[in-house]
Amino acid sequence: MSTPAISLNDGTSIPWLAFGSGTAFFGKDASKPVTDAIRAGFRHIDAAQMYKNEEYVGAGIAAAGVPRAELYITTKLNKVPEGQTVRDLLVDSLRKLRTDYVDLFLIHMPTLHEDLKATWREMEGVQREGLARSIGVSNFSLRYLREVLEVATITPAVNQIEYHPYVSRAGASLIATHKEHNITTSSFGGLTPLIRATGGPLDAVLTKIAARVAQGSGKAVTEGQVLQLWLRKKGIVCVTTTSKLERLQEYLAVRALPDISDEEVAEIDEVGSTQHHRAFVSFPIALCRVHTDYTVTCRPNG
Ligand SMILES: NC(=O)c1ccc[n+]([C@@H]2O[C@H](COP(=O)([O-])OP(=O)(O)OC[C@H]3O[C@@H](n4cnc5c(N)ncnc54)[C@H](OP(=O)(O)O)[C@@H]3O)[C@@H](O)[C@H]2O)c1
Repeated sequence: MSTPAISLNDGTSIPWLAFGSGTAFFGKDASKPVTDAIRAGFRHIDAAQMYKNEEYVGAGIAAAGVPRAELYITTKLNKVPEGQTVRDLLVDSLRKLRTDYVDLFLIHMPTLHEDLKATWREMEGVQREGLARSIGVSNFSLRYLREVLEVATITPAVNQIEYHPYVSRAGASLIATHKEHNITTSSFGGLTPLIRATGGPLDAVLTKIAARVAQGSGKAVTEGQVLQLWLRKKGIVCVTTTSKLERLQEYLAVRALPDISDEEVAEIDEVGSTQHHRAFVSFPIALCRVHTDYTVTCRPNG
């Protein structure tokens, strides 16, 4: 069964479900998990220069034996060292990932770039050259997105952000701006209400909806799958990950589940908005610097 795809503003499309090589695999040999994910049915692999494991991701992709054209590979730009260019860093990623283009190249963190507008112009250059089919951003709050939009001749196709019901109220104006510019939202941390903010007001709602979908579909349904159905119904890319084979099957099984109803989406939105929990980089981060090892230092009051 194939994964549904979402159309991007540049005419390409992106598979809705992605397997991430960050978080638990940061700096580690992710080759086997990547191979397992592709063999199980994932076709979208999410990588990053910052994860310091692109060689392993490349090895995992090669070992899976699926033709390159059937895969969708995302990677993300790290801080560009003095004397190097965005292109230099992307070419290095392509070598490590064993491919001659990525499907999507994202600026990983706005705060790692002194001159964001200049970085975006370089991103446009690598897309024009064909090294990246699509370009976009990640962890961009409104302020940074507007900065890029001021100079963009190519609108970012995607903004990959932490997104789940416990940040949806805080992220409402950003999502509205995405819609205005036809920028696709991609979510990481989507399972946060279930695994990083347990005991919250959504727990009972997710259990109730899981039971309703299970009854309607005749299939077992988990609370995590309901969170992923919530993203899918909103047209938001779901970037998730796991170190377990059975969890790969749980994620992929979402493809065969029906959409949740508009009323169920509204109930998750409403109950989710009563609690705020951000598990990753927080917005606004204007006064903070995120370092390549994910540590954050902030100026006073930042
Ligand atoms: N752009 C960025 O700055 C950024 C930041 C963070 C992440 N990402 C990307 O997003 C990917 C996904 O990461 P994520 O952690 O955000 O994804 P997530 O979907 O929020 O969480 C995935 C994690 O949830 C665990 N999990 C799933 N169901 C569970 C359950 N029922 N009970 C307990 N644990 C459960 C899995 O652990 P098991 O291994 O036990 O299955 C896995 O580690 C990363 O690998 C990376 O590629 C990007």
